[in-house]
Amino acid sequence: MELTKEQRDMLEGKRGNAVKKSMSILVALGEIYGAKRLIPVTSVQISGVSYDNLGDAGLEFLDEMAKDGKARVKTTLNPAGMDMENWKALGIDPGFAEKQKLVIEAFEKMGVEATCTCTPYFIGNKPKFGDHIAWGESSAVTYANSVLGAKTNKEGGPSSIASALTGFTPEYGLHLDENRQAQFVVEVKAKVGNPMLFGALGNVVGKLAKGRIPLITGIKKTTTEDLKALSASIVTYGGAPLFHIKEITPNKTKIPKERIVVNQKDIDNAVKEMNDAEDVEFIFLGCPHCSMEEIKNIAKLLKGKKVRKELWIGVARPIKRIADEVGYSKIIEESGAKFACDTCHVVAPLKGRFTSIATNSAKGIFYGRGKNNFKTIFRTLEECIRLAVEE
Ligand code: F3S
Repeated sequence: MELTKEQRDMLEGKRGNAVKKSMSILVALGEIYGAKRLIPVTSVQISGVSYDNLGDAGLEFLDEMAKDGKARVKTTLNPAGMDMENWKALGIDPGFAEKQKLVIEAFEKMGVEATCTCTPYFIGNKPKFGDHIAWGESSAVTYANSVLGAKTNKEGGPSSIASALTGFTPEYGLHLDENRQAQFVVEVKAKVGNPMLFGALGNVVGKLAKGRIPLITGIKKTTTEDLKALSASIVTYGGAPLFHIKEITPNKTKIPKERIVVNQKDIDNAVKEMNDAEDVEFIFLGCPHCSMEEIKNIAKLLKGKKVRKELWIGVARPIKRIADEVGYSKIIEESGAKFACDTCHVVAPLKGRFTSIATNSAKGIFYGRGKNNFKTIFRTLEECIRLAVEE
């Protein structure tokens, strides 16, 4: 791989140990994938932030990198294992909390913004069309590639840290336009009019895609929340972290010959398959983390009501702060629902605490089952709120 003088200096340790280690990670990755060079990135999002996933070995690696490593580009974090302020209310063990705080401190020492969210594009880490970036969380990667038109592979924890500390990533995969072309057409002949149903569509298309990139047709309009849900689902269920929707998403693509029709029955079957619980103990909304519009809607639905089940709302802290100012947080908290800023039902240590979950997220269903053995109920946001408040 060709390196510039600056990159060679980094690799030889002239910019410190953390940069040297970072450069060796990026060069090794580039060589594995046949990259010709390293290219600058404008933004990084680091995954692997929960102590539940990192453990002590991960924490040691971060401490080592934090000794002399500093982020060179805008860098934010994926959700952590707990709400960094409100962890007690969410029932997190103090021993876990102590370790999670050390993880965040190590990142802060590296100059990383400690906003832990899978929707960094709602809080100012929003790349422009054509930007090369190095993001880690799969739904955010898919949204950035497909909806914003930025270019990123799905980075692991170490490689995203390495990009933050050097400002570079190897040029391969989805950084190259020839790898961003649709490989088959999906004709949607079904009604998908809300984020839950876009999640179901992602389930169907992801399974059909098997790692390929679809061009989806037959969708007339979408909201940001629909596209957020589709981004999370399609990659979870087997698609590449990039899709195109005719006349909606901004990337240009060739039109492939292969066509597959998705009809109403396919969507209905996917919804049915994601429901296997009779009753629900725990409800999670905000997978991926809620937009301001969703918080507003949740506040409207909870106004004057009391929740009778554990209801968590996943959201980036800066969005929660705006909700505090405009009064939505007060309405939501008065109902007994809890904000889960900085975290979510998948990265928090929840195994064994609940047996079932209701959510409007197809991705949330997949990991609720896979990571926490939850039985699942898959409903719209409105129906999830109804389940939370009903006697
Ligand atoms: Fe985000 Fe957690 Fe869902 S990281 S996409 S809320 S599984």
